[in-house]
Amino acid sequence: MSLPVQVPIHDPVASPCAGSDLGAAEVAALEEEIRGLARERDAVILAHNYQLPEVQKIADHVGDSLQLAIIGKQVPQGTIVFCGVHFMAESAKVLAPEKRVLLPNLSAGCSLADSITAESLEDWKARYPDHAVVTYVNSTAEVKALSDICCTSANAASVVRSLPQRKILFTPDKNLGKWVAAKVPEKEVVVYDGCCPVHDVLRAASVNRVKSAKPDAVIIAHPECRGDVVDVADEVCSTTAMLSAVERHPHARTFIVATEHGIVYQLRQRWPDREFIVADGCIGCRMHCPYMKMIDLVMVRDTLLRGKHEIQVEPEIAAGARRALERMIAVPRDA
Ligand code: 13P
Ligand code: SF4
Repeated sequence: MSLPVQVPIHDPVASPCAGSDLGAAEVAALEEEIRGLARERDAVILAHNYQLPEVQKIADHVGDSLQLAIIGKQVPQGTIVFCGVHFMAESAKVLAPEKRVLLPNLSAGCSLADSITAESLEDWKARYPDHAVVTYVNSTAEVKALSDICCTSANAASVVRSLPQRKILFTPDKNLGKWVAAKVPEKEVVVYDGCCPVHDVLRAASVNRVKSAKPDAVIIAHPECRGDVVDVADEVCSTTAMLSAVERHPHARTFIVATEHGIVYQLRQRWPDREFIVADGCIGCRMHCPYMKMIDLVMVRDTLLRGKHEIQVEPEIAAGARRALERMIAVPRDA
């Protein structure tokens, strides 16, 4: 007799693995203080889809990295409090150099962005001199400035397709690069060897294990996941596109989400009648980005009070990174 598969499903929204231990009254007081300070200091609060629920809740705008950088440029406020990781705040500063961009915690980095330096990209460019360089936005401004164009997980295939060159050097994410190469077979794509450990840790076997407990569920994966995971997914898209992917499956009640668990808060806000499960069953919470959980409400308040930590990008580097980002913005998104 075969026993039913037991999948311990952790609830990342009820217990997000990090965050403050404040009581409801303290949280409400902080929220009020933050709103007042933001008004007083002419600041907009932006939060990435992976931030702690308490931070997403207080934000004026929640979205993916590029979307937030574009919003930062468009809003009337002179100060942007960027609740995300360093490269995202840097992109916001590059696109809106006249604004003050504050990152509440300077330690909020990104392993993927750290996997390529300007020096290592110079070496790769020397090895592939006739290749156009396409760099994922999860990278430093220095690396962007050395690239022909940037891309995001939402527009990577369109960006590669839009280039006149047939030979492409794709940096730094190997999983996104391989996914793009398969979508654009007319191009010859050399892929750099970086990855996001939060996504790269997931295997199709774990996803299938969760799926065996929820056989009717739709699987949605971020393209930073490995090829075996992408192959079992029904939808492969950026974090913000995951919100609209649900619309394409009106009869599905359950969605298995192969990305960082912070997105579940947004998905539940938008679709309260659906069930969302992180693809690893969140056993030990493997799909957890520690950098994305480094900002809490106290830090957001302190950032507004003290005007810290201001992001600065050297003008020459900013000009190069802006060129690569703006060239990308001019390319229409895949979906
Ligand atoms: P998005 O640009 O899709 O939000 O992804 C950013 C990220 O850090 C994924 O790990
Ligand atoms: Fe970087 Fe990965 Fe965290 Fe995204 S999830 S910020 S790519 S380490």
